[in-house]
Amino acid sequence: MLRTHTCGELNLSFAGQTVTLCGWVQKSRDLGGLTFVDLRDRYGITQLIFNMETNASLCTQARQLGREFVIKAIGTVAERSSKNPKMNTGDIEIHVTQFEILNASITPPFTIEEETDGGDDLRMKYRYLDLRRAPVMNSILLRHRMAQETRKYLDMQGFVEIETPVLIKSTPEGARDFVVPSRMNQGEFYALPQSPQTFKQLLMVSGFDKYFQIVKCFRDEDLRADRQPEFTQIDCEMSFIEREDILNMFEGLVKYLFKEVKQVDIPKLERISYADAMKYYGNDKPDLRFGMQIAELTSLVQNKGFKVFDDAEVVVAINVTGASEYTRKQLDELTEWVKRPQLGMSGLIYVKHNSDGTLKSSVDKFFSEDELKKWASATSSNSGDLILVLAGKSSKTRKAMSELRLEMGERLGLRDKNTFKCAWVLDFPLLEQDEESGRWHAMHHPFTSALPEDLHLLKSDPGNVRANAYDMVINGVEVGGGSIRIHDKQIQKQMFSLLGFSDEEAQKQFGFLMNAFEFGAPPHGGIAFGFDRLCSLFGGSESIRDFIAFPKNNSGRDVMIDSPSVISLDQLKELGISTNSPA
Ligand code: AMO
Repeated sequence: MLRTHTCGELNLSFAGQTVTLCGWVQKSRDLGGLTFVDLRDRYGITQLIFNMETNASLCTQARQLGREFVIKAIGTVAERSSKNPKMNTGDIEIHVTQFEILNASITPPFTIEEETDGGDDLRMKYRYLDLRRAPVMNSILLRHRMAQETRKYLDMQGFVEIETPVLIKSTPEGARDFVVPSRMNQGEFYALPQSPQTFKQLLMVSGFDKYFQIVKCFRDEDLRADRQPEFTQIDCEMSFIEREDILNMFEGLVKYLFKEVKQVDIPKLERISYADAMKYYGNDKPDLRFGMQIAELTSLVQNKGFKVFDDAEVVVAINVTGASEYTRKQLDELTEWVKRPQLGMSGLIYVKHNSDGTLKSSVDKFFSEDELKKWASATSSNSGDLILVLAGKSSKTRKAMSELRLEMGERLGLRDKNTFKCAWVLDFPLLEQDEESGRWHAMHHPFTSALPEDLHLLKSDPGNVRANAYDMVINGVEVGGGSIRIHDKQIQKQMFSLLGFSDEEAQKQFGFLMNAFEFGAPPHGGIAFGFDRLCSLFGGSESIRDFIAFPKNNSGRDVMIDSPSVISLDQLKELGISTNSPA
């Protein structure tokens, strides 16, 4: 070892000891006779001190050290005169007697400190330097901890970690595939897995019983803060179980992770049906850190001569606690907020529930105070509150109200990132219908079974069949989802036909799975967690990027290695791909 200690571990108990440290020069300061150097490694920062009076030549050499030079320093641990309580090593400094430059560095493109002056693009281009910064490095270390604890829990529960292939054939998870041309089979392509769904089901047919994998998945879809084209799942499957067993097992995993990684005790998870989530929160991934449930006012407010309400499919409202003092300006600003193209509402109606109990609305012309009282009672509004009302087409209005609820929650400080509300959302519809084509699509995926009590509706009323599926939602983020699978070949066939696959197409795409089901498929089910999302939640961030060592930007590019990129004509030829564009 080149070093005796790390830059994060020394304190007063080491005073007087001679130590050797290695690391990067974060900063150096010349204060006349003394030169201070902050030396950084993965574990922290330690202050080195060079004294002109006691060792002039060493001090002169230290003054030449540039930022991000890699050095090895030998010296004595001493108590600092001005301590820094914010640092683990803030009580001590090293009086250096000898040092060596292990490698020089050119000037870095941005400051590599807790706070940096580097913009997003620059930091992505020099990601390996950004990773030296404590907040980014800590996110990756948190991810490591989470992966280890996940493995520990699942191993303890008897799960077997099995790798599945990456060069496969399309899996139906609903996004576009990334494809890879095959040189040996010209004109044919592999698809990268959107998830290992079909393989984990095959492993159940093989009898592995409890499978897991921390696995890369690839989806060619539009990117957002919580979506990357390649991301990681904790993918799991179990045999001879019912939904309740899966819910308990993976509630256990999440509780274990919170306890081991964050020392947080999570109470038994709330369960909410998809229908209730949509009704009360306008959203299938409700943020349950606060109430502010959506109330339906439609029947209460229609046919009173107010055209906006009369023409609307739904009129919905939320009660914002303690916001009756909102000014005209604030309300105008909120109105503009709901009118943004993303929400596209035509306006916002409000009722101020004043502290003296009176009610004052923006539609006083049409509604008497007695009528407003009914609104207040429907929204559980009290003196001092503010009722916000939206009207319009059903799904658009509910979606907008869901966003408004989240925005008001944010403004009132009700979405604390250190509070965790975990819930299961259950009983999703099995199918959704494409408005234009009328075609049915599987809401989760085509291997998801129906709730047994709804199975009889599959032919007569497919839109009302509920799936034996579940999502785990934490603080409004869908962190995982899964289902009990169809294990009966006939029902799987019926499902494919409902989804518009001819027997031939189904056989071509999924024949391998259906054939496997002929050989005694056990009842099975599973779940996959979005590992990056879980890590970012634990790390208190909305973006998953910082929890991925080398992420892509919002256009799906890796700007550091400049990928994707064109390939040579020779390579294309070898793959049997013709192109007119010059490489
Ligand atoms: P699903 O498609 O719901 O289910 O994916 C499971 C979880 O993966 C995460 N996730 C993503 N995370 C980051 N970037 C993305 N682009 C992205 N897409 C999804 C989400 C999601 O809840 N095979 C099924 C699971 C099963 O049925 O067992 C599946 O993949 O957190």
